[in-house]
Amino acid sequence: MAVNTRTLPILDEQHVVAELRTLRSRQPVEYWAFYSSQLNGIVTDPALMVLPFDDHIVHRGHGIFDTAAIVGGNIYDLDAHLARFLLSAQRSKLRSPGSREEITDIIVQTAAASGRRDGSIRYWLSSGPGSLELTPARGADPGFFVMIFAGLSYPDRWYTDGLRVMTTTYPIKAPLYAITKATNYLPNVLMQMEAKEKGFDNGVFIDENGNVGESSNMNVAFVTRKGVLVHPKFDHILSGCTSLRLLELARAHQARAHVTGVEVRDVSVAEARASQEMLLLGSSIKVAPVVQWDDQTIGDGKPGPVSRGLLQLLEEDMRSSDRLIPIPY
Ligand SMILES: Cc1ncc(COP(=O)(O)O)c(C=O)c1O
Repeated sequence: MAVNTRTLPILDEQHVVAELRTLRSRQPVEYWAFYSSQLNGIVTDPALMVLPFDDHIVHRGHGIFDTAAIVGGNIYDLDAHLARFLLSAQRSKLRSPGSREEITDIIVQTAAASGRRDGSIRYWLSSGPGSLELTPARGADPGFFVMIFAGLSYPDRWYTDGLRVMTTTYPIKAPLYAITKATNYLPNVLMQMEAKEKGFDNGVFIDENGNVGESSNMNVAFVTRKGVLVHPKFDHILSGCTSLRLLELARAHQARAHVTGVEVRDVSVAEARASQEMLLLGSSIKVAPVVQWDDQTIGDGKPGPVSRGLLQLLEEDMRSSDRLIPIPY
């Protein structure tokens, strides 16, 4: 192996900023605005969207996050996402950065600074900087960060033809860690990488009792042969805001959703594999049909009416429900 004998420079402030800019110019990103409680304000230059390395969110993974959508100049369902965020904070022993109203205000102001009418909002709470230990450093304030960005996008093919998923070989997270939206996503990352390496679109976690869990960053639901929408219980997987809302919408609009009922319960792998439709649900994917799971064809191998019906109901809800906060640009 060649040894790098270059003498490393000791950088001053200007050089650090210049290098951060070079990094970004090599790898363009769609990050439009970033709030940091540590900077006490908002930046719009991606090179300046930084945090101290010794924040425990970086080197110990002691942090939580959540993601909400900006749709047509409004923030969708922020209350549900914030409720889950604050629950995750409690479970992670992280102090809230402010009242719910203050947090909402920071998110809304950052969204306005982005000038964007469609995109994603991801926000994090960190344990804060001050040491390289495990427990929070003495005197550390929690860090609160908000990023307005383009959001994750998925191929059109997923919606027109359906996805192919595999049962992951990685173990599902223990319930406490699965219901907490912490920044420890190693199993989720490995599951997605494994699926792509094997030619699938994503993976599915199965729990130790042989019941279906969830996917990498989305929930999984099924439609039985009798037309019942079934969703795994939320006691050992993340309470997806999209799933919770879709379960409500499907109950209220059974005909439009093409379902005969809605049940939240354990779903065994055997039952799931025999289902008529399999769906992936989440803030970024919305509703997408799965047509193949391992070597098993789901239903007739084509996207079904429930996936289309639920997607329509969700998209309407995202544009015209009482769950919208207008962004004051
Ligand atoms: C592990 C996991 N499960 C499910 C979901 C779906 O949640 P939501 O509908 O709130 O996006 C997500 C996404 O946040 C996730 O990361």
